[in-house]
Amino acid sequence: MKKKNSKNKKLIIANWKMAPDSLFEAKKIFSTLKKKKINSRNFTVVLCPPVVYFSELFKNYRGKIFKFGIQNLSHEDDFAHTGEISAKMAKDFNVQYVIIGHAERRALGEDSSLISKKIKNTLKHKMTPVLCVGEIIRDQNGEYLKFLEQQIIDSLSGVKKNQIEKVVIVYEPVWAIGKGHKAVNNYEIYQMTIFIKKILVSLYGRKSALNVSILYGGSVDAENCLGILEEGRVDGLLIGRASLNPFTFSDILKKI
Ligand code: PGA
Repeated sequence: MKKKNSKNKKLIIANWKMAPDSLFEAKKIFSTLKKKKINSRNFTVVLCPPVVYFSELFKNYRGKIFKFGIQNLSHEDDFAHTGEISAKMAKDFNVQYVIIGHAERRALGEDSSLISKKIKNTLKHKMTPVLCVGEIIRDQNGEYLKFLEQQIIDSLSGVKKNQIEKVVIVYEPVWAIGKGHKAVNNYEIYQMTIFIKKILVSLYGRKSALNVSILYGGSVDAENCLGILEEGRVDGLLIGRASLNPFTFSDILKKI
């Protein structure tokens, strides 16, 4: 596992969620992406397709541009967990990154206590946990800040000081994710990264906290990606819909 993504190199994570609908389409997306002349000098790019596509999709890939991630991982290592994917299985497919605590999984009932176990298991198996946090709504009284703070504290429970730099945190408010929504504006993203860093400083001290990569996710597209990176001053992006269109996604990568 890389200690962390260098601050100059952005981390771009493609979250394919439960799409596309067929292996045929998944292969088409990946083969179009491979044909694009992508120079990854400025970023690390991680593809997170549904696990059922992994073996067929990546079996012959020998390139260095694309790294692989999964969208969820079991917090346990042993047999009796129907429907789950273990860390050992993921590692067998060269998975290096694990998205944990995505809003859509939290909505299914995954709580921060389970999420913290998943983070610790991911670290134990030397993969990089990509912890998603974010408020559901924004209120006028700033309650959402308390909500976010508690979510971060609970999700990182038991993660030690010498481990925190290996965790990637994505600020991804629920109200900015998905069709019909808009990305958070760049200045607010910047404010939220400072807020998250302050929480990390109080939990882990300045030195470790300031080395944690903070990404943004929620309605990122080819138009807003550069502004978010530059004015939002984040270390990378988590991209849903726009990562399923290989033309849009490669446009984003080329811009970066
Ligand atoms: P979106 O999804 O880019 O389609 O808004 C982002 C995510 O849910 O990770």
